Amino acid sequence: MTDTLTFDQSQTKEEKYSALMPQLEALIHDEPNTIANLANITAALNEVFNYFWIGFYQVDGDELVLGPFQGPIACTRIKFGKGVCGTAWEKMETVIVDDVDSFPGHIACNSESKSEIVVPIIVEGDVRYVLDIDSNELSRFDKIDQLYLEELGRIIANKVG
Ligand code: SME
Repeated sequence: MTDTLTFDQSQTKEEKYSALMPQLEALIHDEPNTIANLANITAALNEVFNYFWIGFYQVDGDELVLGPFQGPIACTRIKFGKGVCGTAWEKMETVIVDDVDSFPGHIACNSESKSEIVVPIIVEGDVRYVLDIDSNELSRFDKIDQLYLEELGRIIANKVG
């Protein structure tokens, strides 16, 4: 495993994702422990994109429980169907929120969060984790983030499945 990421801050978002994706695959390739892999993925994405908050929640019965993350302390448990995370879990699809104040039921773990993307990670037909990323800017996430983060979700699903 390499211990540094190769990327260039002058690149576009798409170029950064495209450079990062094979490095993320390599980062988790030889390590079987899921917590270690999810922790390194949050660190790598945060190093490149400098989010306000990024982390995984793991399905635990009818709740999500906080997993590896980077950023301020966060809510530890979220019920099925609640908030942006619980909604992405229930719908089994990515949810992008341009302005969290306009999302009914948004769970504000931190008042600085303004926009959010949540990508469910589906293993053998069931959501096992969600990847949640928060920004302190409005409308930070778009279809490019969705495309690459869903690809990352499939990489993770293959690894843990
Ligand atoms: N805002 C999320 C809760 C998790 S925190 O943002 C880290 C939600 O509405 O589900």
